[in-house]
Amino acid sequence: MKAIKIKDDIYFVGAFDFNLRNFHGLDVETGTTYGAYLIIDEKVTLIDAVKPGFENELISRISSVIDPKKIDVIIANHGEPDHSGTVKFLHELAPKAKIYASVNGEKSLKGIFGDDLPVIAVKNGETLNIGKRTLTFYHTQMVHWPDNMVTYSEFDKVLFSNDVFGQHFAPSKLFDSFYPKERILYEAKKYYVNIVNPYNKMAKKALEALGGLDIELIATAHGVIFKDYIPDVKALYASLVNNEKQNKAVVVYDSMWGSTKLMAKAIAEAFIEKGIQVHLFNVNESDQSIIFTEVVDAKYLAIGSPTFNNGILPSIAGFLTYIKGLLPQNMKTIAFGSYGWGGQSPSIIEKELKEIGLEPLVPPIKQYFSTHNEDFDRIKQTVIEALDQIV
Ligand code: FEO
Repeated sequence: MKAIKIKDDIYFVGAFDFNLRNFHGLDVETGTTYGAYLIIDEKVTLIDAVKPGFENELISRISSVIDPKKIDVIIANHGEPDHSGTVKFLHELAPKAKIYASVNGEKSLKGIFGDDLPVIAVKNGETLNIGKRTLTFYHTQMVHWPDNMVTYSEFDKVLFSNDVFGQHFAPSKLFDSFYPKERILYEAKKYYVNIVNPYNKMAKKALEALGGLDIELIATAHGVIFKDYIPDVKALYASLVNNEKQNKAVVVYDSMWGSTKLMAKAIAEAFIEKGIQVHLFNVNESDQSIIFTEVVDAKYLAIGSPTFNNGILPSIAGFLTYIKGLLPQNMKTIAFGSYGWGGQSPSIIEKELKEIGLEPLVPPIKQYFSTHNEDFDRIKQTVIEALDQIV
């Protein structure tokens, strides 16, 4: 396999993982990339590496440009093994190479590989001259580990952004404009909200720090390289870190005998009648990361489960656990569910949502056994009246 030139003396030498379908719970449709970049300058520099198992692809691409033993500098922007899991292997091939990481990156790399891996810790804003180029390191803590940083080459106007602006997407062409903008932005959104969303405040600070850089290419560590869609992906991130909302409702449910499903439909109809876009999900039919990609910028979130053993169905409990970790904000909620004798499920759902700071639009909605037409209309009307108070 050959290196892919992305700019004069800069090459993509990473790996394509077309078979990946799940990354820590995130649904991956087409696979992903592990973006590693080689800069040929007085000091031969490798920025990031690949996941263990992809060493041959990395070495074969580097070897198509230069003998890997000639690498002088290895920059590990992030210690997570999908980028740095092969750093020790590389260092064994090029033992004179100096390894640079953030202060926290030094800790992660040593935690993973042991204290004998020599790592030079760099501070936020520190620079490294490699010849014609001076690289600057900017710490991007919690986007998405404490150790993350990005590397900027002013000479090339290239930001090596690691996870920032990444997408779990395996392109057949590396540059963004080969694909429809909406597709790439959706993948970037899905990636960000399912991985970084809990750390929005820190992400906002990190992005502000990068805001003044003159950037022609964003060489990400996952997915396409941004060139033509840079303003769009920056605008997407600005909207996500600021928790901007769309006039949208997401209704998520599971059902035993169809009654809670009809309640979900009644609630969805109420939103539609008020001119609010609705996404309706049976939690068993869609991946939770896909559901959350819609939830994150919705104004309203309705979650329903029938009462099951005095509690809620495990499917909905799992979804609540997932979204509790991702901390969605600023949305009104509806907890609902049918029951035969206990009837606890809507209150349990509401309590869970309140624990992450989400306030109800209406009190929990319960339905005894089946949802008949008059129940359907009553539930719908309850939601419409509540919306009338605020829309
Ligand atoms: Fe792509 Fe946080 O690793």
